[in-house]
Amino acid sequence: MSLFRTKTIESIGVTNSQLKRCLNAWDVTFLGVGAIIGAGIFVLTGVVAATSAGPAIILSYIMAGLACVFVALSYAELAASIGGCGSAYGYAYAGLGELIAWIIGWDLLLEYGLGISTVAVGWSGYVESALASIGIALPTALVNSPFEGGIVDLPAMLIILLLAGLLCLGTRESSRFNTAIVFIKLLAIAVFIGVAVFHVDTQNWNVFMPFGWNGMMRGAALVFFAYIGFDAVSTAAEETINPQRNLPIGIIASLFFCTTIYIVVSALLTLVVPYTSLNVKSPVASVLLSLQQPLAAGLISAGAIAGLTTVMLVLYYGFSRIFLAISRDGLLPARFAKINPKTQTPVPIILGSGVVMSIVAGLTPINQLAELVNIGTLAAFVLVCGGVIALRITKPDMPRPFKLSWHPVVPVLGIIFCLALMFSLPTITWLRFSIWMIVGIAIYAAYGYRHSKINQ
Ligand code: ALA
Repeated sequence: MSLFRTKTIESIGVTNSQLKRCLNAWDVTFLGVGAIIGAGIFVLTGVVAATSAGPAIILSYIMAGLACVFVALSYAELAASIGGCGSAYGYAYAGLGELIAWIIGWDLLLEYGLGISTVAVGWSGYVESALASIGIALPTALVNSPFEGGIVDLPAMLIILLLAGLLCLGTRESSRFNTAIVFIKLLAIAVFIGVAVFHVDTQNWNVFMPFGWNGMMRGAALVFFAYIGFDAVSTAAEETINPQRNLPIGIIASLFFCTTIYIVVSALLTLVVPYTSLNVKSPVASVLLSLQQPLAAGLISAGAIAGLTTVMLVLYYGFSRIFLAISRDGLLPARFAKINPKTQTPVPIILGSGVVMSIVAGLTPINQLAELVNIGTLAAFVLVCGGVIALRITKPDMPRPFKLSWHPVVPVLGIIFCLALMFSLPTITWLRFSIWMIVGIAIYAAYGYRHSKINQ
């Protein structure tokens, strides 16, 4: 049936790439850490500890981390055997047919697009607190969404528009620049750990699970956001030396490293102050301020601001690449895929999406944004794990340089964990996600199906 029309793996694969292979296993791991550590740990940890999980937030992090490990292993099998920069959208096009590919692509646009808005809101919180620490108070009405008693979150809007401008000019993420920022980010976290570890008060864990099992799971579904980005590593397949070996290493190593950091930081946050006091915009810096450590708090804010900026950049690149891949395939109008001849960048995609993302960031609270990003990402991950199983059946002889043992245990566990997290999200998030999917399927039926280039 034509809905299941597929591309050949060779048309996507790494074999015909023109890009220079320059990234080794370390670079890929740093790319992952650069994309992963951001608003999740620096902002959402506080909201989740205070309102959903309490100190059991460390269990939330373990739960979400486990889901990601199973998905990451599944990604690694597909990234090593299919490759291509289109990430899961490309894998699905090769193995599962156009409709599923479109659904994954549509989910990924939600993940990356709204992910940028979410991180921008976190960025704004840290800028606000950094400015406050040097005596500059921004008007409350201009740093809060209407749902939080303000009018608009102006800094969040401005940073997205600024990044859009930079990306249009052709700024390219460079591995070296990314590595430098990753070190600043890790330094900020090391400073927090170094100071907080001397102020632990175990009394703060007297009530470990104040919101019960459900609260812990709800927290896991929200802090899942902190892990988003490891999948962006797979978009570097064409620039990686020996991707069959180095991509799986990069994906797994960055995930393992970040999980460890998340567990340590969330444990310390809830051990140093009562979890009830963490519902603030810049919890990691605020905790240090409450310990009378303004210098360390300033360092954390600087590290967070730099780190969140690179997360947004990587997500923005991912977004524009996937949008471009989909438009080139004819599933979205080709005029979006126009590359500006001067700057060599997809200017219409970057500017158009930048305006939408900045409006969303200016008007929506961070937790609602994160929930919607998470449900879209989890849905895409379920399909990726399903893709591993389906491809083992439909293309058993496809070369698999990285092959999961005990098949199909890992992808099945990935599906179970992702679904468990999805079902821990509130009904309103499901409703919003359903609307997004209905719009997506309507666009495919009205436009993509007829304009697809697959038959040309
Ligand atoms: N994982 C990224 C973050 O936490 C998206 O900001």
